[in-house]
Amino acid sequence: MTMNALKHLISIKRLNPELLFDDIIPACIDMIPVAKKAKPLRCDNGLKTVLFFDEHSTRTRMSFAEAVRLLGWHAEQETLACNSRNKKESWMDTLMMWHNYNTRLVCTRTHQEGVPLWLAEMVEKYDLNMGIINAGDGRNQHPTQTILDLVTIQQKLGRLHNFKIGFVGDLLKSRTAHSLLDALRMCSNISVVCVAPENVQLPQHHAEGFANFIQGADMELLRDCDVINVLRWQVERIEANSPEFLAFLRIKQKYQINKKLLEFLKPTIIILHALPIDQEVEEIAHDIMDDSRVIPYQQSWFGPPSRMAVLQMIANNLLTKISFNHNKVTIDEIKNIPLDEALIATRNKQHDHFIPLKNGTVIDHLEPETGIIIRMMLKTMADLHNGVITVENKSPKKDIIVIKEQFLPKEIMTRIAGLSPGVTFNIMQDGRFRKIKIKQEQQVISGIGTCLNPNCVTRSGEPGIQPRFINEGKNSHPFGCDYCGQHFTLAEILPLHV
Ligand code: NCD
Repeated sequence: MTMNALKHLISIKRLNPELLFDDIIPACIDMIPVAKKAKPLRCDNGLKTVLFFDEHSTRTRMSFAEAVRLLGWHAEQETLACNSRNKKESWMDTLMMWHNYNTRLVCTRTHQEGVPLWLAEMVEKYDLNMGIINAGDGRNQHPTQTILDLVTIQQKLGRLHNFKIGFVGDLLKSRTAHSLLDALRMCSNISVVCVAPENVQLPQHHAEGFANFIQGADMELLRDCDVINVLRWQVERIEANSPEFLAFLRIKQKYQINKKLLEFLKPTIIILHALPIDQEVEEIAHDIMDDSRVIPYQQSWFGPPSRMAVLQMIANNLLTKISFNHNKVTIDEIKNIPLDEALIATRNKQHDHFIPLKNGTVIDHLEPETGIIIRMMLKTMADLHNGVITVENKSPKKDIIVIKEQFLPKEIMTRIAGLSPGVTFNIMQDGRFRKIKIKQEQQVISGIGTCLNPNCVTRSGEPGIQPRFINEGKNSHPFGCDYCGQHFTLAEILPLHV
């Protein structure tokens, strides 16, 4: 599910490498001299941009505001203190108000994961002619930070390939690390070392796509790195006095970048940090902040030009209509014969589950245990069908589903195939028997199940939002929530116990 033109910026994963490295990064670099002049561009069409921040921010908020100013546009800053989100307004209603009052670009920083994707989907569904930029959603993604990190690395190291990068700190909850890793996965010959105590190390799926990926708790692993990205401990995302919090208090000093460690690192190392540094923890020791290898302040300077480029590119595509679902789905018709012929053939095989249906659909070849879930799903899919689907099950021996007198639209068949990729649909209609299979590029499970992350927008009670998971790999937790990015097993997301 990648985008070819930058219409919204939701996550790094949704960009294709050409768009990121051939268009966005060069556009950011071209903006550097413009931002250096610090004089607004003359712009005939000063677009209205809303900066909505429900989490604290200095750099991201200010650099978006400065980018908007330098483009000659108008920025309106909104926080929870002034916005009706504080009165439990839905995201949809907030979005409609931004739209009604002529907002063209919306940059959101939200404590909840998945909000930007949901907003962008609503923009496309209702043709709202707006662009959505994710300025950080919970622990999930922070794509504009990644873009400016890449610009910094490009400017300081002179390349975006062939280097070794270390990440130190709270890898589990740092969205800056998750986004940057997604971008580095698209670069060639990158070695990654992640250093963190065990309770905040990355889940296994993050290692996928890297030839060299090491994770451990020992700072010695940072030897030979060309770049180190230091991460703040995301204490606001854990409960005070929880076991994780107490463990953090015990170990925080162990992961500090200080004078002694600098001596042991490559002399040409560059040390990045998205900032803020926690002044009590000092994940980078205060007394090395003016060392020429420690460059978070220079890094943050690349914020405005990078965000100018992103804003401008999105503004250029405002009238483009995009679809978030690029999953290629095809219907494969395996059989199309007269119904009488099919009935005789089946009767001759003497299947004990045989049901001589003349008009309707039989769903067959379901994966073990999925029959019960699909039956449940069909009963509740009134939104995709005219009314409730009546399911009969006359075959206790085989997991097949019989739907008399009804036919399923492609969307429903695709959803079923997402759950059970080998499924076949036998359609008896107008005296013909058709057997079809649905093929899709990605296995997508939508409209059923629950994301286990309580902070995911799909758990917010937002009207209309439905869970969606994508099978992303061969690891132990392959199903990634498309909104919040967290990964689960099939058994975790589906109501198998029902
Ligand atoms: C980061 C963020 O908000 O995720 N900061 C930023 O955007 N400059 C990092 C952090 O807060 O730890």
